[in-house]
Amino acid sequence: MKKLALITGGAGFIGRHLARALLAQGYRVRVLDSLIEQVHGGRTVPEGLDPAVEFMVGDVRDGQATARALAGATHVVHLAAEVGVGQSMYAVERYVSVNDCGTAALFQALIEAPVQRVVVASSMSIYGEGLYQTADGDIVEDALRKPHRPGEPWDPLDEAGRPLVPAPTPESKQPALASVYALTKYMQERLTLMLAPAYGMEGVGLRLWNVYGPSQALSNPYTGVLAIFAGRLLNGQPPMIFEDGLQRRDFVHVEDVAQAFVLALEHPAAAGQVYNVGSGQDRTVREVAALLARAMGREDIVPEITGQARAGDIRHCIADIGKIGRELGYAPRRDFSEGLAELAAWVAEQRAVDRVAEARRELEARGLVA
Ligand code: UD1
Repeated sequence: MKKLALITGGAGFIGRHLARALLAQGYRVRVLDSLIEQVHGGRTVPEGLDPAVEFMVGDVRDGQATARALAGATHVVHLAAEVGVGQSMYAVERYVSVNDCGTAALFQALIEAPVQRVVVASSMSIYGEGLYQTADGDIVEDALRKPHRPGEPWDPLDEAGRPLVPAPTPESKQPALASVYALTKYMQERLTLMLAPAYGMEGVGLRLWNVYGPSQALSNPYTGVLAIFAGRLLNGQPPMIFEDGLQRRDFVHVEDVAQAFVLALEHPAAAGQVYNVGSGQDRTVREVAALLARAMGREDIVPEITGQARAGDIRHCIADIGKIGRELGYAPRRDFSEGLAELAAWVAEQRAVDRVAEARRELEARGLVA
């Protein structure tokens, strides 16, 4: 029997790339997606979804829609979620409803129609601050961010007041949930790993770092930072950089993320596990802003460094991708500068509605940037 993968939220950025990767692996692919306005801009037909995908419009919280979408499915990838860390701090009910009630509803339906394996998109945000080292080389697991005061360092400090240095964060680091978004992602992950085996299924969680690549929603002001910056530069506007821009992340190309999902769906060793998914290389937000501006030929636009922090944001978290490499054979293939060139070429063909100032006002009005 041909394998049939249901991708919830599969009309989105990651889902569209994953759908193509699964089709290439010989799966039949079905997508259930509610096409939310913030991402899909009011479209009723998804853009860029491979025509071989069977598309169903519907909300994962709607039990009947989900049951229909599960008919005949052998595998599920659960991507349907709200994704903005900053926005989650005020749109609390919406984030908890879509992410947590959505996952609960999916499992309610899966109890009646179990599949072989469910892979859920978890997030590095569940770690809160990543792992750090002191200047003496001691590992710090529980670094915390204090509210920032002008003139003080942005980085978490050791007991002697010296800045801690970020270190690659493995899956064994304890979660430290610093945003509503992170809390909901942890819930999605735990629910999957708890309920799948209780009903004879295999559950896998992928903790994704910052995913970038062509076809990310450019007009969503709560999308990933590279897409936001690309939209700004396309419109001749300066990227707005929070804090001092020296916060570090791991930017991973969406095709590498699709590779990780295929491995997580197929590899026998993945059952019951969680894996970090990144590129293994970390960069500052300021550095990626400069590299993107160069790739887009807009080095003339100088980013605005706001010196303000967004509530819920962590300072640094960089990925240790050793486990997924050893156990599943994952190896990121996409070079960052080639990925940016590809992104720039795609962006040049797009139009972006700039809602960044609007989003900033929403956060400011609630005291969520300071
Ligand atoms: C992102 C994802 C989240 C994913 C997580 C995993 C989005 C919206 N969020 O969260 O779903 O689980 O990665 O790592 O894709 N920044 C600016 N200017 C801006 C926007 C952001 O300076 O206009 C800064 C932020 O303050 C932060 C960094 O860029 O320091 C990254 O922000 P963002 O792209 O929202 O990603 P995460 O919060 O890491």
